[in-house]
Amino acid sequence: MTAADTRDLLLSRIRDVADYPKPGVVFKDITPLLADPVAFTALTDELSGFCERYGATKIVGLEARGFILAAPVAVRSGIGFVPVRKAGKLPGATLSQAYELEYGSAEIEVHAEDLSAGDRVMVIDDVLATGGTAEASLDLIRRAGADVAGVAVLMELAFLGGRARLDGALRGAPLEALITL
Ligand code: PRP
Ligand code: MG
Repeated sequence: MTAADTRDLLLSRIRDVADYPKPGVVFKDITPLLADPVAFTALTDELSGFCERYGATKIVGLEARGFILAAPVAVRSGIGFVPVRKAGKLPGATLSQAYELEYGSAEIEVHAEDLSAGDRVMVIDDVLATGGTAEASLDLIRRAGADVAGVAVLMELAFLGGRARLDGALRGAPLEALITL
């Protein structure tokens, strides 16, 4: 399959849901893609390709939808999976990072012992929207002493400006999006 064919397949399995979670918003539902083994495998292969290209030694998945995409990539790539969770879910010693949302704020955490100097971490998530979640994850990774190999997402919602917001936090590391909308 060519890169364009893969993109078309993935895009064809993403369902637009109007007025969810609130009026005026078009939600990008990835459950049809997950239910299609050919598409889910193609997505896993593409994301694993980024991990190899950029020399990742660990994968961070962002709760919750990022977990679904990142875990099979970790297995496919033969490298470890580290969950970044919403605050209060991890039982051990954590590093926490708060960040601003459109309305209010949020906080994510990682087990401090899961990342350390020498790790090169690829962050995987389904969507890059405003970039707040991904930016906070990069802060966590660096505070744990690890390096950032890059950020890879299925979809980038370009009109929300996440790429520009992430620019400083990436420090030259790549941001890869399989589909840009
Ligand atoms: C969604 C999406 C990304 C994030 C992107 O997660 O899965 O993780 O928002 O938004 P941002 O770029 O503006 O930070 P959300 O926490 O809404 O839901 P989830 O738990 O289902 O992944
Ligand atoms: Mg999410």
